[in-house]
Amino acid sequence: MEKQPTTEKSRDQFVSRIGFIFAAAGSAVGLGNIWRFPYLAGLNGGGAFVLFYLICVIVIGFGLMLAEFVIGRHTQLSSVDAFKKLDKRFTFVGVMGVLAAFIIMGYYPVVGGWSVAYIFKIVLGEFSTEPAVMGEIFGALSGGIMSPIFWTAIYLIMNIVIVAKGISAGIEKASKIMMPTLFALLVILVIRSVTLPGAMEGLRYLFVPDFSKMTGEVMLAALGQAFFSLSLGMGCMITYSSYLSKKENLVQSAIIVPAMDTSVALLAGMMIIPATVALGFDLGQGPGLVFVTVPAIFATMGPVVGRIFGILFFVLLTLAALTSSLSLLEVVVSYLIDNRKWERKRAVMITSIILFLMCIAASLSMGIWSGFQIIGKNIFDFLDWFANSLLLPIGGLFITLYVGWFWGKDKVKTEVTNNESVKFAIFNVWMFLCKFVIPIIIALVLLSGIGII
Ligand code: PHE
Repeated sequence: MEKQPTTEKSRDQFVSRIGFIFAAAGSAVGLGNIWRFPYLAGLNGGGAFVLFYLICVIVIGFGLMLAEFVIGRHTQLSSVDAFKKLDKRFTFVGVMGVLAAFIIMGYYPVVGGWSVAYIFKIVLGEFSTEPAVMGEIFGALSGGIMSPIFWTAIYLIMNIVIVAKGISAGIEKASKIMMPTLFALLVILVIRSVTLPGAMEGLRYLFVPDFSKMTGEVMLAALGQAFFSLSLGMGCMITYSSYLSKKENLVQSAIIVPAMDTSVALLAGMMIIPATVALGFDLGQGPGLVFVTVPAIFATMGPVVGRIFGILFFVLLTLAALTSSLSLLEVVVSYLIDNRKWERKRAVMITSIILFLMCIAASLSMGIWSGFQIIGKNIFDFLDWFANSLLLPIGGLFITLYVGWFWGKDKVKTEVTNNESVKFAIFNVWMFLCKFVIPIIIALVLLSGIGII
């Protein structure tokens, strides 16, 4: 069935409210929660990092997410056209968001591909209790040539199929199945992890703040993680909420989505950190934690049980990554549909081909191209740094500044309260967050990202 180029009238909508919540939470919950959050917590002193991360989620997560929801739902347009319609001077914010989504999608599928590859590695029994052996297995995959590119392609094809089908038929259906499955799998693995002898010490590390470790560096790491994990600052939530009906309670959604995202991050931490401590592995090993330590942890459970838990885990990680990259691809695709008037299938295909080429470069930069560096980073790290340390904070800064200072308080109030039909008691607090608190916090992250602080 051919889809017409979408106009405001014929635009798809989320069929159900729960479908939107699942899709938005599916975007937020991804490698950021399950791969990045636990290793950052392990690296940055545990409890102190977690505490500051939670503060950031409550302040920025709620405030900026609501700002994005309001813009998207009001205009019923994806981010570039949304800003073009509201205030032409802010169009660059939308363009920067599309660029950020594009750049993140230039390496995210590589990690997604590793995750798919690990499902098969675990099936074939390629896992061991020895961190050194696991390091070699991971190094051989990530530093290889054809194999990681093959798995990246498999991962990208999954994205293409779902996004090409359109918003309600594809993403909504996928998210409704994926999210509950993800939660159930996580809970099972958390129970396994915290019942290991010695796991309590790990739980304490994760939740009892050691304030001597609350340095500026740790706080900024936590802040950056909150930003990335919640999919904020790049118009992703603007695009998703542009498919929302005017009856939706935006305030409620801006509370539920960060709450779900944070629950998954905390569950992921409770799955990985206690087991890591209990089994005597290195908490501070960084990005390798998921791909090196976790399979080793499963291996210590014996070949059969370990395999079952290992397969469950990497299926879960792949699903989480998938719902996030779907949203990133959707930001780019809906820009091409709304702004360039492309047909959906064409937009998905052409975008995906370019992304695949970027992913090949990102993947090779972990191996044979590692010598090619831009400002001291390989291609993979550079893409990650450029999108997350520069584009997302700049985007978030201008989104909140726009809502706080430029849109007009009355117009914002009308939209956020569905024309005064839903109550929003702390409206003025939220406006204060948008005007001052969030932009100032973001400016600090940004300056640290560039290395000025
Ligand atoms: N939030 C996603 C994750 O945690 C990544 C993402 C960032 C998705 C920005 C969309 C936009 O993995």
